[in-house]
Amino acid sequence: MNDADYRLLESQLRALLGNETDALAASSNFVALLYNALDDVNWLGIYVLRGDELVLGPFQGKTACVRIRLDDGVCGTAAATLATQRIDDVHAFPGHIVCDADSRSEIVVPLLVNHELVGVLDIDSPSLARFSETDQRGIETVCETFCSLQEARSGFI
Ligand code: SME
Repeated sequence: MNDADYRLLESQLRALLGNETDALAASSNFVALLYNALDDVNWLGIYVLRGDELVLGPFQGKTACVRIRLDDGVCGTAAATLATQRIDDVHAFPGHIVCDADSRSEIVVPLLVNHELVGVLDIDSPSLARFSETDQRGIETVCETFCSLQEARSGFI
């Protein structure tokens, strides 16, 4: 997808979520929209910050590990550093947690609502280096839009 495709996806997200205030409903549709929009992806979902660990939230794909410590895996690293992790080859990432053995590359974006970490969006692909800089920019923007639509709420999921 190019920048224009991601802009279209963002407008679809705004139309889909509208003023929905239920975070579980909004998050579930958010992951379904992205999963069906992105090609060559085998898992896409949200891990929600609960205390000092990440807990599995709405997702599309095979069953996945339920709890991830903040010092563990690609997801924990993204949450602990508040920085997107774009991994071309997950086998080369020390501590990568295997959920679906088909996954070869991965991108994890921290989700911040009202400047506070609420979770991460994790996307896996069966292809090496599936996610480009354009994908990172587009996915981060879509995540920011999703989070901004949640800011009217007092909590997350
Ligand atoms: N690979 C992730 C774990 C989550 S699954 O990919 C769904 C990680 O290393 O944090």
